[in-house]
Amino acid sequence: AACTGGTGAKGPATPTAPVDLGAAGEIPVGGARLYREQKLVVSRSAEGEYKAFSAVCTHAGCVVTKVENGKISCPCHGSTFDAATGKVLQGPAGAPLPAVPVKADGGKLIAGP
Ligand code: FES
Repeated sequence: AACTGGTGAKGPATPTAPVDLGAAGEIPVGGARLYREQKLVVSRSAEGEYKAFSAVCTHAGCVVTKVENGKISCPCHGSTFDAATGKVLQGPAGAPLPAVPVKADGGKLIAGP
């Protein structure tokens, strides 16, 4: 089925310019957070250890809607991804969520190139 819930299929799946995600401390250690507007998921495995992924599902381009218990869920056809690695936990998506560079700069999270 085609994706009707997202716009990701039309634009780039990863940012083409640096994106300010606000306070790094908003993500709990060992947790992850969805930045819906920026179409990114950022996980924090340990203090100072951030990883960002595109929130555009690799199946048909919907934007994922839920990050819970280390799992990223796509609402369109039920794919799930590991919030720590971006890897597919459950299809139909066949490819991991693309990683996006991210850094904490003076307490602020900046994603993208
Ligand atoms: Fe189909 Fe995400 S777009 S599962």
